[in-house]
Amino acid sequence: MKQYLNFTERVVLVTGSTRGIGYVIAEAFAEQGAKIIINGRVKNTVQKVVDIFEGKGYAVIGISADIGDAGAVEEIVSQIKNRFGHLDILINNAALRQWNSLENISDEIWEDALRTNFFGVFHLIKKMTPLLKQRLNPSIINISSIAALRPLFSQTGIHYIVSKGALLSLTLGLAKELGEDGIRINAVIPGFVNKENDENFSKKYSSIADQTFLKKLPTSVDIANACLFLASDLATAVSGESIIVGGY
Ligand SMILES: NC(=O)c1ccc[n+]([C@@H]2O[C@H](COP(=O)([O-])OP(=O)(O)OC[C@H]3O[C@@H](n4cnc5c(N)ncnc54)[C@H](OP(=O)(O)O)[C@@H]3O)[C@@H](O)[C@H]2O)c1
Repeated sequence: MKQYLNFTERVVLVTGSTRGIGYVIAEAFAEQGAKIIINGRVKNTVQKVVDIFEGKGYAVIGISADIGDAGAVEEIVSQIKNRFGHLDILINNAALRQWNSLENISDEIWEDALRTNFFGVFHLIKKMTPLLKQRLNPSIINISSIAALRPLFSQTGIHYIVSKGALLSLTLGLAKELGEDGIRINAVIPGFVNKENDENFSKKYSSIADQTFLKKLPTSVDIANACLFLASDLATAVSGESIIVGGY
């Protein structure tokens, strides 16, 4: 029987994978046999996750780098090139999420949000394309946010909302150009996530859950499952698409 979710030997970079949703996405691909690249800004934290993954028998390396720094992105690319020679799946998950009211958002806060959440993703896509295009069913997944579409529940600020909306335009806008190289690009739009699947968290935010079709908050595993589908051989004809996970 064909194994559609088999990622054996596929090289997967998940940015911002030292904790939260990115960690769970990285583990989901590792469980399916992928070679994982863990990323975050802090060297020790990256190393800790690499140690945990190695302890579980996963194929893993770590690259500590700030994706909002264009020079550091060049370094990520050259390390992946030297180590593997290619990349199969790029998951742009790292983001800055800080609340600020309109009157308190300085130009600096705007620039920080856009540098990481938008330009970081743009630079990674641009620089990784040559490593992706040699592959079979290569793909890019951008993690956006429900805040970009339904900002009603969000305590995130317009700088975050705009940066996550820009990712949706980037996803659709690049689908044709990348498609010419056989690279698929899609976005996952998480609702407000109960990251640890914690019952107390569910209770605390039940008013948000009540506004979803399913009356529950998605978990990190739900987000990871959407990524597995979009990167898999089940989705070889899907590109330029954005999938909301959370039932809005
Ligand atoms: N949580 C939610 O309810 C929710 C809802 C909708 C969308 N999302 C999206 O889902 C993604 C993950 O969210 P999360 O809540 O899991 O985030 P999180 O817990 O804050 O984790 C963020 C991860 O990204 C890393 N990171 C942050 N800035 C970075 C940078 N400049 N370069 C490299 N790594 C960086 C962090 O490590 P270091 O700090 O050590 O660098 C960490 O590993 C984000 O894109 C977020 O916008 C989340």
